[in-house]
Amino acid sequence: MCGIIGYIGHQEATPILLEGLKRLEYRGYDSSGVGVISSESGELFVRKAKGKICDLESLIKAHHLPSGSIGISHTRWATHGAPNQVNAHPHFDSTNKIIVVHNGIIENYESLKKNLIKKGYKFISETDTEVVAHLIRDYYDGDLFEAVKKTIAQLRGSFALGVISQEEPDTLIAARIGSPLIVGIGKNENFIASDVPAILDYTKKVIYLKDGEMAVIKRDSVRVFNFAGKPVPYKVSPVTFHVDAVKKQGYAHFMLKEIHEQADVLKNMLASRIKGNHVALDGLKLTDSQLRSIKNIFIVACGTAYHAGMVGKYVIEKLASVPVMIDVSSEFRYRNPILDQKTLVIAISQSGETADTLAAVKEAKAKGAKILSIVNAVGSTLTRESDGVLYTHAGPEIGVASTKAYTAQLCMLYLLALKLAAVRKTLPSAEVKKLFKDLKEVPQLYHKILKNRQAIADMAKDNSHFGCFLYLGRNINYPSALEGALKLKEISYIPAEGYAAGEMKHGPIALIDEYRAVVCVAVQSETYEKMISNMQEILSRKGKVIAIATEGDKTIANHAHHVIYLPSTNTSLTPLLVALPLQLFAYYVAVNRGCDVDQPRNLAKSVTVE
Ligand code: AGP
Repeated sequence: MCGIIGYIGHQEATPILLEGLKRLEYRGYDSSGVGVISSESGELFVRKAKGKICDLESLIKAHHLPSGSIGISHTRWATHGAPNQVNAHPHFDSTNKIIVVHNGIIENYESLKKNLIKKGYKFISETDTEVVAHLIRDYYDGDLFEAVKKTIAQLRGSFALGVISQEEPDTLIAARIGSPLIVGIGKNENFIASDVPAILDYTKKVIYLKDGEMAVIKRDSVRVFNFAGKPVPYKVSPVTFHVDAVKKQGYAHFMLKEIHEQADVLKNMLASRIKGNHVALDGLKLTDSQLRSIKNIFIVACGTAYHAGMVGKYVIEKLASVPVMIDVSSEFRYRNPILDQKTLVIAISQSGETADTLAAVKEAKAKGAKILSIVNAVGSTLTRESDGVLYTHAGPEIGVASTKAYTAQLCMLYLLALKLAAVRKTLPSAEVKKLFKDLKEVPQLYHKILKNRQAIADMAKDNSHFGCFLYLGRNINYPSALEGALKLKEISYIPAEGYAAGEMKHGPIALIDEYRAVVCVAVQSETYEKMISNMQEILSRKGKVIAIATEGDKTIANHAHHVIYLPSTNTSLTPLLVALPLQLFAYYVAVNRGCDVDQPRNLAKSVTVE
């Protein structure tokens, strides 16, 4: 995915656009660009650079942009065409009087491009976006809104667009379908952006454009239309988090900051969702009788959210005795899943913009299933596609590697399982009370674990040299092993594989030698002894064993080179605790290897394209 920001107002546009791009850099960072209309000459000027926003800033320092109070800018995660200066946005039309920035994929761009070339248009980039710029020119007949509207009618696929023209220097046009875009409302100034953090310094009043909507934005007015050009009503929503939420506040990386925020995120979620011995799930939008009538549950998600869903499966089946199936969204959507009106589909997504999860939800709705989504990003597309929405309110997660969103998703799944158990009367009240008590203790246990982070950092330093890691877990901590491996591989680029420990002898044991490190999740549980056997098998083949264990375990150190001890908690809640040291371990290994922790290569915060 990419990041878009646009400005029209009374201030200098360039500094606002550059600062906004930095706030969106987590969305894509292989190239970027800014375009402004000069207040003096009325002409359009563009500066674009390969690399990060700081590279664009250096370019602009060397080759100034003229003063101007209207502009658009873009930070890219390449889909069509290599990450380079030519393919960076904004893209000009053939007359260099219109520029466009785009997030998404124009699926029919090749046929459109062929027709435009036949008409004599010359292309200089490999992107799908440049087609949009030329199409607007092709339709332009003195009315930019009309030209953009006609262009959009030709496009298939997903797009969030920002368009300005020097022929209409008082107009900024935005449009979206399938990719997020908001309008920020200021005083004699207005903004567009892919996400709220980009404009938080200037306004906390936003319009979340819906799919199929366009906005015509002037310095003192905003009008919203559907793609047919019909005016539509819109709501101005308040932004609920502070601008500090999108700054590092003294931490070396956003990821480290967000790891440390987890205790408060969980504390706030539990405080707002547990009332006495009842779970209050505002946004659930399902009555108790509907919850009782659910025949089965299907969880769909990607990446880290999928791992949270795997824990959710264990917990919902154990506490509420509801059969739960789970699939990665990209598989679910193509395998014709068996669903009906009695199936509840739970879609889990931090961004609420993941293309595969949105498509999976569309497939599920077509089959009559009810949709409940667990989402962090307020106003995201998934929230509008769902019958019920459980917001995790973890605040913006800027680090590409998901941490606080993951543990917030876990916590929400525990609460949902408890709600289902209460409504379906599947748990004795004493057990419910015990789980509430244990859940409420988790934030305090996080602080205890964080006090020990230096030992984790030291252990990470001692093991950063390994070229390959295996992560093993069983039962409810099998997903913990998968998530630990994903964290390590996506920020340190070390091959790391998560595996069900019981599967080790069915193949992975062939990997074990003195060059291999194996992280074993061996906290107190009914499968503890089995984990000890795995560790012994690894040691006997000279593998390096790093164990995650429970405080008070007097014997595990005999079966591991390193042990990270966690406070004791309810077995069902251990994934919540296990996540923290594995996040810290991955973070410190990546730092030791000099990796770009917050913006790992090739990744983007949300995969809004297939
Ligand atoms: C997690 O660290 C990754 N960044 C990635 O797997 C992510 O969890 C996945 O892309 C799903 O994103 P979503 O939660 O926004 O749908």
